[in-house]
Amino acid sequence: MQPYAAWAIDWARHESGNMSAAVSLQKRLVVGLTMGITLLWLVATLVTGRLVQRELDEAFDSALQETAQRLLPLAILEIFNREETIAPQRIAPLNAQQAHFSYLVRDAGGKILLQSINATPDIFTARPKEGFTTTATHRLYSASALRTTIFIDIAEPLHYRRAAIWDAIIALLQPLLLLIPLSLLGVWLLVHLSLRSVRSYRDAIEERGAGDLSPIEAGQLPAEISPLADAVNHLMERLRCALDAERSFTANSAHELRTPLAAALAQIQRLHREAPEGPLQARITQIEASLRDLSRLSEKLMQLAKAEGGGLLSETPQDLAALLEFIVQDLRRSATAAIQLTLPAGAPVLATIDPDAFAILLRNLIENGLKHGTPEAAIEISLSSAALLTVINAGPVVPVPMLARLTGRFTRGDSGADGSGLGLAIAKTIASGVGATLTLTSPATGRHDGFEACVQFKIDTRKRIKAEFST
Ligand SMILES: Nc1ncnc2c1ncn2[C@@H]1O[C@H](COP(=O)(O)OP(=O)(O)OP(=O)(O)O)[C@@H](O)[C@H]1O
Ligand SMILES: [Mg+2]
Repeated sequence: MQPYAAWAIDWARHESGNMSAAVSLQKRLVVGLTMGITLLWLVATLVTGRLVQRELDEAFDSALQETAQRLLPLAILEIFNREETIAPQRIAPLNAQQAHFSYLVRDAGGKILLQSINATPDIFTARPKEGFTTTATHRLYSASALRTTIFIDIAEPLHYRRAAIWDAIIALLQPLLLLIPLSLLGVWLLVHLSLRSVRSYRDAIEERGAGDLSPIEAGQLPAEISPLADAVNHLMERLRCALDAERSFTANSAHELRTPLAAALAQIQRLHREAPEGPLQARITQIEASLRDLSRLSEKLMQLAKAEGGGLLSETPQDLAALLEFIVQDLRRSATAAIQLTLPAGAPVLATIDPDAFAILLRNLIENGLKHGTPEAAIEISLSSAALLTVINAGPVVPVPMLARLTGRFTRGDSGADGSGLGLAIAKTIASGVGATLTLTSPATGRHDGFEACVQFKIDTRKRIKAEFST
């Protein structure tokens, strides 16, 4: 029989392990959304920059035009008030803002009549031409008066405009310094909170014992993921049905074998008594031994079917100490060696394990101690308050490489005792089905010989508190 339940849980664990190896959705969203926001902001900055540039150009042009038109009458007055036209006069700017501009006052032929102190004739066009002109370095505006006989050419360096546009663009980009970390943090927080339910769902899968195929509580999963949880539960349900069918077949087959085996054994025992002394007696003894082996094997197969079943966990917590005491008392009646039992004093040791499953596990471990250990030495069984069960027996040391293999099905060690090699496999399947761990050690802890089997059960503290309050 395949351990499908264990396989299904391992698969779910493997998949949830893969989730962390795969690219994190949270990381993807954080990086993607932040990059998207940054990109959009940059595009918005670019578009706004173009608009600002246009508006600034208009504002600068109108300032240039206004200055030219204010200066022109003053310049004409100045020219006409001069006594003689000897050399073009250089006028100092009135304020710092005017220092940006330089201007020339010329006649229609291009002769300079007046110029600002910072004016360089090279930056102007050779002949006056009304309106706006842009050169490589300057923006020029030309206006005329006195029926286009006198012209004023006013120039403004382009770098003033460029500096103003850059100032605007930098001001628009500055919020990005705050926006990028804020968006990283905000998206991370949002996704982290949104995925909280997904993480609890994953934890719920991870916490399961290998035999637990009951539906997983989906909680408040996001709408996109909750169909997945439904599909998983559906799959688990189908798996459970298939496993139940297979297990009930194994259990029923083993059970059905019981009666004919018992009948055959009874017949053989009768024959044993009735048959004359001689070789026939020896053959009857052999057949009887084989029938007993067959009967034990069918018993172990039934236990294995139970171990692989889904009902290993109990709904209410069970006191392991009380169960242990009861089972040991029962075994002492037929035991060939003494059994020493040490139980924790005080509070009960509570764990959610089905009492029948606990009994099967314990019987297999004790039966091994009785069967494979030194018969004269007592078997020591103890349970700690931390739910650690230990079964120790005296006997030859089992080599470590062999120890690792003993929990496999139909695997036997060097022991001369009878057996099918299923006991430890059953114990291990039950242990992992209830979330406990089985550890085999030889020689036993603190000794030079012997064999030690430890099972660490899981205590559910929440349930423990509840149970203590109810008692
Ligand atoms: N307490 C022990 N002391 C020494 N050897 C042990 C002990 N328990 C198990 N072993 C070794 O491990 C082997 C496997 O044990 P397991 O319980 O699986 O099978 P078994 O006892 O041989 O047969 P079965 O339990 O099916 O009747 C045994 O054959 C024995 O060699
Ligand atoms: Mg055994």
